[in-house]
Formats: sequence, C-alpha cells, structure tokens
Amino acid sequence: MSQSLENRKYAPIGVFDSGVGGLTVAREIMRQLPKERIIYFGDTARVPYGSKSRETITRYSRQIIHFLQTKGVKAIVVACNTASAFALETLRPELSIPIIGVVEPGARVAARTSKNGKIGVIGTEGTIGSQIYTTTIRSYAPGAEVIGKPCPLFVPLVEEGWLKDPITVEIARRYLDSFLKSDIDTLIMGCTHYPLLRSTLRGILGDRVNLVNPAYETARCLKELLEEQDLVNDGAGEETGLQYQFYVSDAAEKFKNFANSILPCEIEEAQLIQIEE
Ligand code: DGL
Repeated sequence: MSQSLENRKYAPIGVFDSGVGGLTVAREIMRQLPKERIIYFGDTARVPYGSKSRETITRYSRQIIHFLQTKGVKAIVVACNTASAFALETLRPELSIPIIGVVEPGARVAARTSKNGKIGVIGTEGTIGSQIYTTTIRSYAPGAEVIGKPCPLFVPLVEEGWLKDPITVEIARRYLDSFLKSDIDTLIMGCTHYPLLRSTLRGILGDRVNLVNPAYETARCLKELLEEQDLVNDGAGEETGLQYQFYVSDAAEKFKNFANSILPCEIEEAQLIQIEE
C-alpha cells in the first residue's frame, strides 16, 4: 500500500447537516468510533432544509461537500435526513470518496426488525414527501406497509430545549395519533432532532413500538464501511490539531451552546465560514 493510501486512514470524516441536528449523528460516531477525527459543518444560515426543494438542497449539499473536501476528508456522512433524501444519489457519482446518508441505515434496520411489516416514519415535510423511506424499506421488505407523517414542529421544540415540556408532549400526541390507531410495531425517527425526543415518543407509543434511530444505525454503517475499505483510524497517526472541528454558516455561539448540551465532549469553538464562496 502506498504511503498516501496508508495515511488516508488518519484523515477526518466529514459530517454535515442543515444545522445542529446532525450533532446527534456526530455524537454516535464519537461513541462508536472514538479514534476518528471529525470535521462537522452545520448550515445554520440556511436552516431549515426540511421545507426547501430538492434543487435547493442539492445545491447547498454540493457546496458543503466541496468545502469538506478542501479539508481532506476520507469519507462523508450526510447527517441530514432531508439532504440524504434529496441530494445523496445525485451527488454520489460526483465523488471519489465514500459518502453515506442516514436514510438507508435506518430503513434497512426497520425493514429487517419489524415483525408485522407495519412501519411508521416521522420526519420533515421534505423527507416524508420524497417517499424515500418507503422506497428503501420496500427494497428490503417488499410487502411492508409504511406510514409517513411529517412533524415539522419538533425541530424548533428540540432547539428550544423543550424535550419533555407538556407542550411538546401534547404536540407529539397529535402527531402520533394516527400511529396509535394503526398497529405499527416500528417507528423510524427520520429527522436529526427526533432522537432527542425519544423518551417523549416512548411515553406516548409505549413499549410495543420499536424506535429506530438512524443516527445510531448510520454510525454502525460507517464503521462497517471504514473496516471494509481499510480506512479505520487506529490512533497511531501523528497528532494534527483538534480531533473534532466544527464549522457553521451563522450563529456560531448558539451552535456551540447546543453542541455542548448534547455532545460527550466540550467544544471550544465553532468557526464561521462563508459557504457560498
Ligand atoms: N436536519 C433536518 C433533517 O434531518 C431537520 C432540520 C431541517 O429541517 O433543516 O431532515
């Protein structure tokens, strides 16, 4: 193996999202692959992605991937469900490094673990409207019945920190009402923010519904991919700067505070960059 290929394993992983939500994915990568370096970009100037068009999300994602490549990343994780739904398949052929999204790992586990083939999916309007979870689940379990429900109010509630507030519980009850009337046995939390509402969702749906967290499944998938391609960082490389670096397109301080409320490590700064340049 040439020197440059050997060194590739010490390069960071690029992770991006429309804002803070993808930190739930970064957090899982930190837990499951503790030696990996991460370059995270949160598009805080242009969030939300969930209500924007496929064309816009593809353009934004292409700009971000370009930025991450200037940082020498060895692989890219599209942490945003909406960007995974709208942009991933268009952008994959444009890249020479591996890129994975959050939809496929979550959908695959749901398809394989559901016993009665009735699966609920919650996400942004974009993700649910794209039907990507339905299509992907059915590629593994052709007869599956998939019920999608956009839950747009969850994102601002999570960012407000109202994870178990009575208002959040009431809104969740309304959103989940149709699932309570059906007999789904699996629910995919198909938006970056939703795993932070896990206990609220569990309280409403009870124990008979298995909650699938695409952030967790994506980190597992990333681990498999790095192993297959001999790209796992064994920690033997030279120390080159911070293990985790964060970039945003706006509101760096707010981002940093949110990150410090959910990550297993303390971040000192999020650097502001002009992503459109
Ligand atoms: N990150 C987005 C997602 O997972 C949610 C926030 C947004 O709408 O930008 O779809």
